Amino acid sequence: MTLAEKAGQMTQHSWGFGSDEVARKEAATGMLGSVLNAPSLEERNRVQKLALESRLGVPLIFGRDVIHGYKTIFPISLGLAASFEPQLAERTARAAAREAAEVGIDWTFAPMVDVTRDPRWGRVAESFGEDPCLTSAMGAAMVRGFQGSPGDAERIAACAKHFAGYGATESGKEYNTTWIPEPLLRDLYLPPFRACVEAGVMTMMTGFNDLNGIPASGNAFLLRKILKGEWDFSGFVVSDWASMAEMIKHGLCEDDADVAKVSAKAGVDLEMATRTYAKHLPQLVEAGVVPVAVLDDAVRRILRVKHELGLFDEPYRKTAATSVAVCAEHLALAREAAQRSVVLLKNEGALLPLRKELRSLAVLGPLADAPLEQLGSWSYDGAVEAAVTPLAALRARLGADVKLEYVAALPDCRSGDASGIQAAVDAAARSEIALLFVGEPANLSGECRSRAFLELPGIQAELVMRVAATGTPVVLIIMAGRPLTIGAVCAQARAVLYNWQTGTMAGPALADILFGDVAPSGKLPISFPRTVGQVPVYYAHKNTGRPPKQDRPQIPTGTPLDPVDFDASYVDVEVTPEFPFGFGLSYAKFEYGRVQVTPARVRQGETVRVQAELRNTGATAGVEVVQLYVRDRVGSVTRPVRELKGFQRVALAAGQSKTVQLELPTAALAFTDADLQERVEPGKFEIFVGGDSRAPLGAELELV
Ligand code: GLC
Repeated sequence: MTLAEKAGQMTQHSWGFGSDEVARKEAATGMLGSVLNAPSLEERNRVQKLALESRLGVPLIFGRDVIHGYKTIFPISLGLAASFEPQLAERTARAAAREAAEVGIDWTFAPMVDVTRDPRWGRVAESFGEDPCLTSAMGAAMVRGFQGSPGDAERIAACAKHFAGYGATESGKEYNTTWIPEPLLRDLYLPPFRACVEAGVMTMMTGFNDLNGIPASGNAFLLRKILKGEWDFSGFVVSDWASMAEMIKHGLCEDDADVAKVSAKAGVDLEMATRTYAKHLPQLVEAGVVPVAVLDDAVRRILRVKHELGLFDEPYRKTAATSVAVCAEHLALAREAAQRSVVLLKNEGALLPLRKELRSLAVLGPLADAPLEQLGSWSYDGAVEAAVTPLAALRARLGADVKLEYVAALPDCRSGDASGIQAAVDAAARSEIALLFVGEPANLSGECRSRAFLELPGIQAELVMRVAATGTPVVLIIMAGRPLTIGAVCAQARAVLYNWQTGTMAGPALADILFGDVAPSGKLPISFPRTVGQVPVYYAHKNTGRPPKQDRPQIPTGTPLDPVDFDASYVDVEVTPEFPFGFGLSYAKFEYGRVQVTPARVRQGETVRVQAELRNTGATAGVEVVQLYVRDRVGSVTRPVRELKGFQRVALAAGQSKTVQLELPTAALAFTDADLQERVEPGKFEIFVGGDSRAPLGAELELV
């Protein structure tokens, strides 16, 4: 390959950005390696033909964002994470790959495995939440789902993103500065990427963020030292969209030539959307500024992935004889995934499930019949026409048996127009139950959608208050791409379901849950703050020297500072979250009994078996996500009060008991010490097993 051809392989054209005609010429002369967002299968195959007819005939790889489904849309990742079911994530990724592959997509830019503790950040919607253990399991499962096995016709390359630390963006602002001490980077933000590498992810994408002064797209510590060095990653690294050239704005690079030099040396193999590599790498090599070995390694990685995907053997994708898009199998999977993502936050007086004898129902709110909104962010290929809304599902289910009144009440969920609220109030007053659908629109979360306030947008809170004032029991269904501050509106409702944005089959899944066909089993993958002033609030916090007291006395007026009140609390709000990580109710009633660890004294390298008695003392069957947390009592550095180390979905019939078994390898107790060494330290560990991150102490373990 000539230097120009090598630099060409390291270049991705973003269709519709710049000249597509120039891109066709680049493909025909072997000066292009990839295309993002090809407009159609036909165009994809046309451009591919140009590349195959070039001097070396190297096929292009075609990429597109298939984040939580292609035509069939599954729950947003934050919702899917609430299922605590990696196998489900693998199945949805597999279905998405089947639908994407048939239209010529070879490569998706997913899973996004940025851990984040900041609901202000719009991309929390694309994340699996605040915990590295859960994010690792879900991310690795999606890699397996997308990539399938060698030879699969429907496999597509996955891409773990955004490497790394993007979720720590300052004050939740998008594309922003991240300052992450290396121990925290290694223990909180990197593990999910490592899990994806261990699952065989073919590509990684750099983040937009400036990490400790070096933007991720020019960060050799991340790409060379950790990813390609310590982890021996054999795939290729793609930049984010123009993230390389943005290093000029960051103030790290002088000009495009400097960008090409810094990114190539740092380990970015493929440039997305911009052309600094094509323009400058050949000259930089000839000038001895960038060794040709850097290009050879990058091109080798890109060719290896193209080869593993079979693009050299089958460079064209054929129109499928029978499309699998929104096929019955995928819609059924979408319904199942949506069911398992919903989190029951409140159920006063067991109002849910709704009684079969129900005769009148008010279906209210701007999100009861909003197909586009229920698909969530990153769903631009979604088949909106296939989306079944809660209103449509309830009408289909209830038919003429139940008097169903529908009032949207607001033009949309951000509107300030209150003129429609009275009609909703009147409908509620005439009904036995009011189902009230509120939340965020799909485009108020996702990329570049940071919010400084976390309340329900617009005047939805007023709608909730006025409907609740009728005295008709309210079931509040909140559809959003992030945790919202919902304490006040939850207080107005008898029952609350957090529905995230659960995709094409959001409606039928909710109807299944509302009427008890399925008991809700979702658990929160992220802590819910009482107020945005608490952010970041998360369960795996440190204990501090003055841990907050439980029932803290109010600060009396007119008195001088009183030392007894000095602890790590606020004076104006509870220090605990509104709803904690791992929390979610069921229609069943789960009680935990004895917890046992075997052996109670363990040596490094061994595995501890953790057993917990679980009983369903309720009258209906249900699924509990049993969670295992560990606390390292004393370390060479302070350690979090808890860390999730395992979880398991357990289905129990009414009255059934089970001894749940979880495994805890001592390797899972490792952390990065003050000398930046990953180590497991001898000492005492506390074991907690329960249905959320407040699980009581169950047993003690000693590592000798
Ligand atoms: C965007 C996103 C990234 C996405 C890429 C291609 O800016 O940051 O997640 O995969 O560009 O669309």
